[in-house]
Amino acid sequence: MDIPKNHNMVKRSSSITINPGSTLLGEVNSSNGRGIPGDKSLSHRAALLAALAKGESQVKNFSITGVTEVMLAALNQLKVPWELEDNTLTIQGIGIKPRFVSNSPVSMVSQSPVSIHCGNSATTMRLLSGALAVWRVMAVLDGTTSLRNRPMLRIVEPLQKMDVNIRATDGHAPLFLHPSQLPLRALDYTLPVASAQIKTCLLLAALVADGDTTLIEPGPSRDHTERMMRAMGVSLECSRQPTENLFITRLTPPGSGFLNPLNIELPGDFSAAAFLIVAALITPGSKITINNVGLNPTRTGLLDTLQAMGAKIQILNLVERSGEPVGDLVASHSHLQGVLVGGDTVVRMIDEFPAFAVAAACAEGVSKVTGALELRHKESDRISSLGIELRKVGVLFNEMEDGFSIKGDQPILGGIVNPHGDHRLAMSLSIIGLISQSPVIVRDSEIISESFPEFVSVLQQLGAKVEQGV
Ligand code: S3P
Repeated sequence: MDIPKNHNMVKRSSSITINPGSTLLGEVNSSNGRGIPGDKSLSHRAALLAALAKGESQVKNFSITGVTEVMLAALNQLKVPWELEDNTLTIQGIGIKPRFVSNSPVSMVSQSPVSIHCGNSATTMRLLSGALAVWRVMAVLDGTTSLRNRPMLRIVEPLQKMDVNIRATDGHAPLFLHPSQLPLRALDYTLPVASAQIKTCLLLAALVADGDTTLIEPGPSRDHTERMMRAMGVSLECSRQPTENLFITRLTPPGSGFLNPLNIELPGDFSAAAFLIVAALITPGSKITINNVGLNPTRTGLLDTLQAMGAKIQILNLVERSGEPVGDLVASHSHLQGVLVGGDTVVRMIDEFPAFAVAAACAEGVSKVTGALELRHKESDRISSLGIELRKVGVLFNEMEDGFSIKGDQPILGGIVNPHGDHRLAMSLSIIGLISQSPVIVRDSEIISESFPEFVSVLQQLGAKVEQGV
């Protein structure tokens, strides 16, 4: 197989200007693509697991964003039939049993590889690798320059232990997959880092293994896959070994040979809501309500951290819907104190450090994050890029190998900043402009549409003075 060309998404560059001096008031919802998007992690899983199910699945409030669009495009290439109408995704699953007949929907016995472009989405690349092993598809998976920098041996090595025929390019994308002999070899494996992407990739491959697969993680990574697979009839046991603080997941391949289809409604994405929560906490006079937000405890480390900082956040109407905790959040302007963040909380707020850094910059005293080396392997090196950009607007940011510290409550000056191709950096740099002395201009802000296309209009609806320009 040839190495495919390195595609970079060509998008028109735009910038946003955030002017200080507004108050955020009002209500935000998450339904039908308005307000905050449906949860991105759940959307990826729902699309892929529905494709692996037998029969028709329906997923309401599906997140239609840059990163989930590449997953859907990949399913198109694999000839999995799906339709989107008003953020409801309907998928006709093709099952987990390999089909060797020539009119198979997926080209399992094709001689030429399917070339799949995963854009900026590491979740798509890592999760899809597990599913492609199940379907025995010959494929090349590639992405943008940013995605080519993300570590891939973390999935390639354990997949190889399962006898999946996969290799990386110097530890990175492009990844090359050839059909493997089924069943795959069951795995007993300790993950080098707590990672839901590695775990999910391996649990997908484990669906067609010759016995139970056991995965051991050093932290509580998000458990959406386990919840969704269980709802589809897969037998999964999760436990915690308290003395060494290990998190154990054991999957038994479905004896029936199939997964039941899904009929679910996804909650709003907590990781998108995080920017609005912090925006309200730091902006004097603000009070906002965000309805229908996913509150899975493996995702809400930021809520605990902010509450420890003295944040006024209320959780209302907490219920369980489609197997996930969901509720409404009310956040009001608060006097924040510095805080220490480490241990399991880091895993439970792994995507929220850009938002947290803004809260820390506005808090009294020093905040310190340790044990967060994984931040260097996200859409940007989030320790270094946050430091570079936050210092530009006056934040006293101290970089450490596995974290950072911020001396808060210093004047935020404003200025021109660069999101380093990272959607979450772009959003955190935007909200700091709400309390700066002069406007903050975020260059290349189109990257925000990777996860929260309505970000600017939601801020505007709440009363923020934000302008979008090209
Ligand atoms: C994700 C898991 C996390 C997170 C990413 C989405 C997922 O990555 O940072 O945005 O959907 O499983 P890791 O599993 O690599 O920590």
